[in-house]
Amino acid sequence: MKQFEFFGLDTSNECLWRNGAQIPLPPKPFAVLRYLVENPGRLITHDELLDALWPETYVQPQVLRTYVLELRKLLGDDAGQPRFIQTLTKRGYCFVAAVTDQPPVEPSRTKAKPVLSARAARLVGREQELSRLNEHVTLLASEQRRVVFVTGEAGIGKTALVDAFCQQLDPQLQASVARGQCVQGVGCKEEYYPVMEALSQLCVSTNGELACRTIAKLAPAWLALGRETGTAEPAAARPALQERLVGDLCAALEEMAAAKPLILVFEDLHWADESTLNLISALARRRAQARLMVLATCMPRKGSAAYPQKVLKQDLLVRRLCVEMALAPLPRTAVCDLLSLERGQEPSPGLTGFVFQHSEGNPLFVIAILEHMIAQRFLVRQGVDGAAQWEQRAPFPELPLLEAGIPDKLEQMIELEIERLSPEEQHLLEAGSLMSVAFPAWAVAAALEKDAAEIEEACDALARRLYFVERAGQDELPDGTHSAFYVFAHGLYREVLYQRQAPTRRAKRQIRIADRLGELFAGRSARVAREMAVHYEAAGDWKRAADALRAAALHAHERRAYANAAELLQRALHIAENLSETERAVAAPEILGELIRAQEAMTLGAEMALNLSEKA
Ligand SMILES: Nc1ncnc2c1ncn2[C@@H]1O[C@H](COP(=O)(O)OP(=O)(O)O)[C@@H](O)[C@H]1O
Ligand SMILES: [Mg+2]
Repeated sequence: MKQFEFFGLDTSNECLWRNGAQIPLPPKPFAVLRYLVENPGRLITHDELLDALWPETYVQPQVLRTYVLELRKLLGDDAGQPRFIQTLTKRGYCFVAAVTDQPPVEPSRTKAKPVLSARAARLVGREQELSRLNEHVTLLASEQRRVVFVTGEAGIGKTALVDAFCQQLDPQLQASVARGQCVQGVGCKEEYYPVMEALSQLCVSTNGELACRTIAKLAPAWLALGRETGTAEPAAARPALQERLVGDLCAALEEMAAAKPLILVFEDLHWADESTLNLISALARRRAQARLMVLATCMPRKGSAAYPQKVLKQDLLVRRLCVEMALAPLPRTAVCDLLSLERGQEPSPGLTGFVFQHSEGNPLFVIAILEHMIAQRFLVRQGVDGAAQWEQRAPFPELPLLEAGIPDKLEQMIELEIERLSPEEQHLLEAGSLMSVAFPAWAVAAALEKDAAEIEEACDALARRLYFVERAGQDELPDGTHSAFYVFAHGLYREVLYQRQAPTRRAKRQIRIADRLGELFAGRSARVAREMAVHYEAAGDWKRAADALRAAALHAHERRAYANAAELLQRALHIAENLSETERAVAAPEILGELIRAQEAMTLGAEMALNLSEKA
C-alpha cells in the first residue's frame, strides 16, 4: 500500500482509500495514478505514461488529460496549486506529494462512522443534508424502504450532494449504488432510459453477477430490453403486461436489496419519461420490506403543477411514501469556504460579501462569478509557482461600480461568460449544444461546415481554457475513424447556448448534423434514424422527420420490437400534421397503414406472451 497524505493506494486490490473509506476508481485512471505514485518527484512525460499504459496501441495524449482531471476531482487537488499532480505544460506530469509504504488496510478494520471522501470533503455547507441522508441509510437496516427527492434550482448543488453522499457511504454497509441519468430530449423521450442505465451499472458492479442472476430469474424481459441497442421495447401492448414488467423488476430489485442495501439514484427526474416515473412510483408504493433507497434529484419547475414528476412527488408526499429535501442557498460562511476551495486561498471579506450578494448562495453562480472576475482580470495571480497568490486588482466595494457588471440571473451570467469568447468559439459551443450534454467534434464540424480535425483542435483548446467544457473521450465512427467528444460541466450551459441561437440558424445547423449522421451511417442509417428525426423535427423539417421516424419504425418492426415501432409511427403521424395538404394526403394514410400493421403484430405478440406465461 502506497500512502500519501490521507490517501492509500492499494495496488494489490487496485483501489484507493481515504481515511479508511474506499473510493471507487475505474481501471485506467487507477493505472495512471499508480504509475505517478510509483514514480514520485520526477517528470513523467506524456510519452512515458502512454507507453506504460498502452504499450501496444497509439493513444492520443489528450486522453491523459481526461484521466488526470478525474483524478484531481477525486483527490480534491487543484491544478493551480497542486498538492498531488503537477502539470508541466506540454511535457507531462509530476507527482509532488511525499509517498510512503504502509501495510494494507483491511475493510473489516475501518471505522464504523462514515468518513468523508475526497469529493465529499470538497462539499461545503451541506453537513446537515448529508447527515439527514445518512439517517435514511440507517433506517434501511430495519428494512424500511426510502424514497428521497432532493430538489432545488439549477446549480444549487443537487448532484454535488448526491455524489458526495454516495462516496462517503460506509464501506461496511456494502451497499450497491446504481445511477441513471434522465436526459433532456428535444423530441420523443426514450422509455426507461435511466432505468436501463442503472441496471447495466448494477450488472457490471462488484455485485454484478448476483444482480444479473436475479434479474434473469425474476425479470428476464429486462435483460432482453438491455440487449437492444438504444431503443427499449416500450410499454407492452396491454396495461397488464406493462404492470407485469414493472412488477417483475420491483421484485428483482427487492431480492437484491435483501442481500445488500441497494441505492438507486435517478438524476434530473424533471426530464424522465413516464415509464421511469411509473417504476419509481411502484417502488415507493410496494409494501414488502426492503433495504432499498431511491434517491432522485429534480428541479421544481415554476408555475404549472402539471409536470408528471411533480404530480408523482406530490402524490407520494401526501401518502408519506417519500420525503423531500429542498436545498436552500448556501449561507455566507459556506460561500467563503467554496471560494477558498476554488482558489486555494482564503477570500477577503470584501470578495466573499460581493460574491455572496450576487450569487445569492447558488454554488454554480459562485463559480461562474469567480471565473468571470478572473477572466476580466479583477483577480490576478501574482508571484511565482508555489508562492503565487490571488490578488484583487480593484478594492471592494468599489468593484461593483466598475465594469464587473454581474447580472442577477444565473442564465445571464452564463451568457456573459459566453460573450467574452471569440465569435468562432461561440459558434463552436452553440453547435455543440445541439447534440446533448455530451457533443462529438464531428457534429460540430458538420453543423458549421468545417473540417473535423480543425474543430477537434479548437475544442481541445477551449476545453483547456474553459472550466465548463471538458474533453470526455472518443467516439469510434462506422468508418473506423475517431472523433473526440466533450461535455458541458452543467446542463444550464448547454441550455443557454441552445437558446441564444436564432431559430433559422439553429435549424440549418441541425439539418446539417442530421444529414451527416445519415452519411456516416450510410447503409445502416435506420439505426440512427430516430436521432436524425430528433434533429429534423427540431429544425421544423417535418417531411424528413416523419420519413426518418418511419425508417426507424421499420427497423424496429424487423427486430420484432412492435410496440417500439408503433410508438415511432404515432410520433410520425403527429409530425405529419404539419405537412402541406398535398404531402399529408400521401404520407398520412401510408403511416397509418404501417401503424396498424405494427399494432396488429403487437397484439398478437402480447397474446402469445400471456398464453405462454399462463401455461408456465
Ligand atoms: N455544497 C457544495 N460545495 C462545493 N461545491 C458545490 C456545492 N454544491 C454545488 N457545488 C458545485 O457547483 C456546481 C453546480 O452544482 P450541481 O451539483 O451540478 O448543481 P445541480 O445538480 O443542483 O444543478 C458544481 O460544479 C458543483 O461541484
Ligand atoms: Mg445536477
